[in-house]
Parts: sequence; C-alpha cells; structure tokens
Amino acid sequence: MSYDLSYGLSQGGELDVTSSSNPQSVRSVEWPPDNPKETIRGLLKTRYETHPESGTISRRFEEHFEELWGAFTAVYGEDREAAMWLVEAVDAAVAAFEDRPDSLRSLDNSRGGLNDWFQGPEQVAYMCYVDLFAGDLEGVRERIPYLKELGVTYLHLMPLLESRDGRDDGGYAVTDYRAVDPELGTMEDLRTLAADLHEEEIHLALDFVMNHTAREHEWAQAAVEGDERFEDFYISFEGREIPDQYDQTVPEVFPDFAPGNFVHIEEIDRWVWSSFYDFQWDLDYSNPDVFVQMFREMAHLANVGTDVLRLDAVPFLWKELGTDCRNLDEAHWILRAYRALMRIAAPGVVFKAEAIVSPEETIKYLGTGGHEGKECEIAYNAPLMCHLWHALASENTKLLEKALQDLPETPEQGSWLNYVRCHDDIGWGLSDEDIRAVDQDPIRTRKFCSDFYVGDHPDSYAEGYRFQEEPTGVARTSGTAAALTGLQQARVEGDPKDIEAAIARYLTIHASAFAMGGMPLLYSGDEVGQSNDYNYLTDPIKSQDNRWVHRPEMDWDAVDRRQEEGSVEGRVFDGIKRLTNARKDLRALHHRADERVLNVANDQVFAVERVHEDERLLAVQNVSASAQAVDISRLPDAWGEGRFRDVLADEQVCFLNGRLLVEPYGHLWLEPCDEATPGLPATTTVSIDVETEWGERVFLTGPQETLGEWRVEDGVPLEAVDSSTWEGTVELPENAVVEFEWVKKRDEQVKAWSGHRYVIRAGTGDIWRLD
Ligand code: GLC
Repeated sequence: MSYDLSYGLSQGGELDVTSSSNPQSVRSVEWPPDNPKETIRGLLKTRYETHPESGTISRRFEEHFEELWGAFTAVYGEDREAAMWLVEAVDAAVAAFEDRPDSLRSLDNSRGGLNDWFQGPEQVAYMCYVDLFAGDLEGVRERIPYLKELGVTYLHLMPLLESRDGRDDGGYAVTDYRAVDPELGTMEDLRTLAADLHEEEIHLALDFVMNHTAREHEWAQAAVEGDERFEDFYISFEGREIPDQYDQTVPEVFPDFAPGNFVHIEEIDRWVWSSFYDFQWDLDYSNPDVFVQMFREMAHLANVGTDVLRLDAVPFLWKELGTDCRNLDEAHWILRAYRALMRIAAPGVVFKAEAIVSPEETIKYLGTGGHEGKECEIAYNAPLMCHLWHALASENTKLLEKALQDLPETPEQGSWLNYVRCHDDIGWGLSDEDIRAVDQDPIRTRKFCSDFYVGDHPDSYAEGYRFQEEPTGVARTSGTAAALTGLQQARVEGDPKDIEAAIARYLTIHASAFAMGGMPLLYSGDEVGQSNDYNYLTDPIKSQDNRWVHRPEMDWDAVDRRQEEGSVEGRVFDGIKRLTNARKDLRALHHRADERVLNVANDQVFAVERVHEDERLLAVQNVSASAQAVDISRLPDAWGEGRFRDVLADEQVCFLNGRLLVEPYGHLWLEPCDEATPGLPATTTVSIDVETEWGERVFLTGPQETLGEWRVEDGVPLEAVDSSTWEGTVELPENAVVEFEWVKKRDEQVKAWSGHRYVIRAGTGDIWRLD
C-alpha cells in the first residue's frame, strides 16, 4: 500500500477543515476558550450528531472522552494545535469504527462490559512464527485442529507484516503496516485466518510494532528525502552533542551488534535515534501527527480481526534528556490515549504490553493511580519467568517466593501472561533488593544464572548461549526450554534416568507458570520438547543473533511422535496437555482468584494456594533433584488432614504421615477432598538397594500398621535379589503415599538403619529418597 504522504496538518480531516465548511472545527473557536475540555467535548458531540451511527459513537465517546482528554493533553498540551490533533484522532477512531466489519462489531458487543475473557482459567496461549510453524498463513489455518488438540485458545503470530529485505529483527522492522509479508500470504489470508480462528474460539494476537519503523518505511524514506512532515516523524540530531548526552544515561539494548542509541545517516548527515538495530528508527511520539498516524495503523490491524494487539517495546516510547528514556510517564499517557480511542473504534480489542522491565514498572502498564484497566489489559510476567529459571538452577525457591510476594497486585481488569520461554532471550531481571533480602549478592546471583544456563557451572545440565554479555560477566540467555532444562543434553546422552529427570524438570517449570494468575503461554515446539535449532548459523540474515537458536522450525515429525508409546515427545506433550486440560475446569485458576505464595518451610518447594468462588487449589512444585516433604500443618487450615484430589492424575491421594510428599522435580495440583479415604489394600512391590554382608537381612519399617509401626521386630522382610538389591511386597491403601525406612538385621540384631526416609506411592514401584 502507498501512503498519502501529504495527509495530515495540511490536508484532509479536521486540520484542514475551515470554519465555513465545518461549523464544528477547532479553527472556528476563539482560543483559549474558558474550558478547553468542555469546548472540545461539545464540539465533538455536535460533530457526530448527524452520523448514521451517532448513537453508538456518542455512547462510546461519552464513556471514554474523559480519559482520552486527560491522557492526550498530558502529552500534547491544550493549545489549539493539540486540540486539532485530538479531533483528528477521534475522527480516525470513528473512521476505524465505520470500517469495522459486522462480524467484529458483534464480537465487540458480545464482549461488552468488563472485557475479561483473557482472565478465564480455560485460556491457554501459544506463540509462533508463521513461516517456522506452518510455512504461511494458509498453513497455519490447516494446523488449527492441532492447536485445538493442545487446548490452545489464543494464538500469537509473530510479526507478519511487510518488513525490510535482509536483516529485519524477525519482522520487527516493518516497512508497511497495511500489507502482509508476501511470503506468508495476503491481508485477505489474514482476515480468513482470523475468522477461522474465531470460529474455533481461538483469539488472535498480533504484534503492533509501535516504537519504530524500518528505515525503509515510506515515512523514513520521505524523511531522508527531506520531506519536512516526515522528518518530524523521527528523532534526529545534527551533531553528536545531544546524542552523546543521551548516551550517558540511556542503556543499550543490543550493545554487541547495535552499540549506542543513534545511527548516523549519511544522506542527511544526521544522527537518528535507534534503540534497537540500526535499521529500526524510533518514532517521535512527541509529534501528535505520529500519534494519530500510528493509531490509524493500529486500528487497521485491529479491523483485520485481531483480538489482542501486542504493543511492542512500549517502555521506549518517550525520550527525555537526563533519564534512561524508559517507562516515562508520557509513555503511559500515550497508551491510555490509544486505549480510549480504541474503545471508540473497536472496544473488543485488548492491548498487551511488551514491557520487560522491573516488576514495579511492569505493573504500571496495566494501569495504576486511578487508571486501572485503562492502559493495557495484559502484560508479560517477566519477573515470574526469570525467577522460575533461577529457582530451577539454584534448586531453591526463596528468591522466587520473595519476588512473587512483593509483586504488585494486578488491577481487576488486568492480567499476566505467564511464560517459561518466548522468542526473546531471558534477561536476569532479578531485583537487587530481593536478592539482598535473601542474603545474596546481586551480581553474583545474576552471573550464576548466566553461567548455569550456558553450562559453565559444575552442576549444570543446560546448553544455552550468552546474549549481550555485560562487562560484569552477566549475560542474558538464549536457548530453548529443552536446552535449558537439560532435556536436550539428556536425550543426546541417552540415559533414561536423566531423560526422566529432565522431563520432570521441564514439566515442573511449565506447571509453575500454568498455576499462576493470568494466561499461560507456550512457545511453539515446547509442547514436544524441541531442542535448539542451529540452522540459523547458516543464514547470514540471522547468524549474528543467537536468539534464533530458540526459535526452531516446527518439527512436525517430532509432533507425530507424540503418539508413540513412551516417546519423549509423547511424555512432554501429554504432560503439557494435562495442564491445559486441567485448567479448563479449575475455577481457582481464574486470574482474579486470591493467590497466596505459601511459606512452607522448605526452600526446594514452590507452593501456591488459589481460591476463587469457593474453589481451592494447591499447586506444589519441587525444583530439586530429590524428593521433598512439606508438613501439612504448614498449610492453611482448609487443607485439613492430607487427603486430596490429585487434579492432574485425576485420582485421590492420601499422605498418611502428615507430610505432603513431592517426587524429584515433581509437581502436584491438589484440591481438598474431605471424603477421600485410604483405598483398598494394594500390593506394592518395593525394591531397594542396600549393601549387605553374608547373614544380614533387610526389613521395611514405617508408621503404618502393615510396616510394623516402627517396631523393629515387626518390620516387613525383604528378599535378596542379589547382594545389594532387596525386594518384597507390602499391602498399602491404594491411593496412599507413605514413608518408610529400612533396617538391616543379623540374628535379630539391628545392624543399621537407612538413616533417611523413602517415599512410595501405593501400587507403583517408584521409590524416592527423602534427604
Ligand atoms: C521486542 C521484541 C524483540 C525485538 C524488539 C525490537 O522487544 O520482543 O524481539 O527485537 O522488540 O522490536
């Protein structure tokens, strides 16, 4: 598509309407009026009085004008020109409403009131690149049944608009907001896909890359050619003086391959602001023309059938000398103004903030200070993500618990997107204060994470890569979930026990994200445990940026193997699917449930209680390689005596010894179950390794009657299978998990005790050792 480059102040819309042809023009008003807000409100009301859909327009306008005015004028002021741009913006919203297809209008209407579908427990998000997942948009349509099988209700397709040739930061360097990348399809294909997804109750999320355009975008090109209007779309300086001042306080995003925050453009001999790659030029949002034009682009994308606009890099929208140019107030006002306008144009559309910043700053994108629910509805829960990875590496949940206990509450209308991996690197955004509160050193802790996940640590199983290393040695981390959890390494080495442990680790970190308030997000390929993909190294467009290692091409053969009995893909897929399925019926996983991160006096266990509308869930995750016990007396009273429903296994479970037991890297989702009773006796085979000498025998002993209630003389005798393996059977109630020890005797004399406890689940042969 080609833009009318002369559109704006000089032509079209309110800004060109003279008082004679349009009596509601700002130009016709004596400025400043006594009350600019009421003047503009009145002017806009009369402006649309004769519109064929004046009813809907004026209702929406009345509802959102207050917020729009406050936000817009906070950024652009209240002078006549600002007022003209505001009218222009409302015109753009009304035009977008006019263009909105009927099917989407009815979605808007059905979502009316509190638009909170994204908070429901049944929601599960999935993100992928169109080409890597299915070739093109048509291919994605064909894969809808697969997404349904997995329980997906929300599909985020990575940038798919036309982007520059060559390096394009995975599509984040847009050249045309109104055209689909021809390799992926057309706008029409996108519309069809959106409609098909809606048919299957899957919401569509698309990126709106709002902080920058590609330098090849028509606006940037016009700027280079000296078009004054478009020169003002970007931020540029003649010499290095001001850029140098900015560079003193503004951090770099990609210090390795795009140092500094400015790029020198020879044609104009100016330094252009470029926060990311040098071919991505930041837009100048202090120019209301940019604000309005970008709204038009955003609304166009919404009208294709997008349910969620992922607003890319929002912390960067506003720049101010002497600051870090991140998360400034104006960035928030801009988002609020956009949201108000979008509520007029397409009220069903939801904003998702891509703000990977500290928890205190992240929460602000969901609206704070009286603007709750009036900014973005969804935000990435990066704090949860990086703390989960830290907990797994350190086998310790203290810092995770601390961070989550401190995490500000989301407003009623806002929600988290909880993820383990996404297309970006993992930044170790752990707060210094929290780290110190758990008696650790901030740099050391972050360095530990950076080192651990690239395998530079004696205990590491991870095979990730450093991304943008800092002089301190702290680096961000690239790598797939499989590479980082050790599943990749275990599969290559082939030891079944290591594979089992890695799968457990993999599922536990996912279970933790799936148990938290908000919508869980799966990265494409993670549902079958796909490994790092090194193909990017042979592609000159990608080879420099190791984030491509964790953006693998979907391996559909691997996906097919999910149906093979015992395959790794099947075990991972079933484990993930068990989580997505279980969520659908668990009201306690609604985002608005009361969520409590419990202190269970065991630093290897992450326990969260969620209560919503009388439903209660206890999610317990063990981040360590050994089995763990939690005293049931540490749980809130409602959890009673240790009789539960194990939601994921869909059966009752009774912990008979007053302690809740979790297998190594295990995860349990439990509901209270008063009527659960220990079931009928089940014969359980116990096989343990105990070194013995001639004449010695091994007995099981434990608190149960069948285990002799700890009486040495009443222990259950085992038989020697060989000199170090002893086996026997014991009758245990069918759904019980019990603890036991062994005792070694010779001629009725006790020679040794095991010294630690073991755990066994009735009917299974699995034994875990408790340390
Ligand atoms: C966002 C994207 C990232 C991209 C950047 C620049 O942070 O997630 O992949 O590099 O924006 O657009």
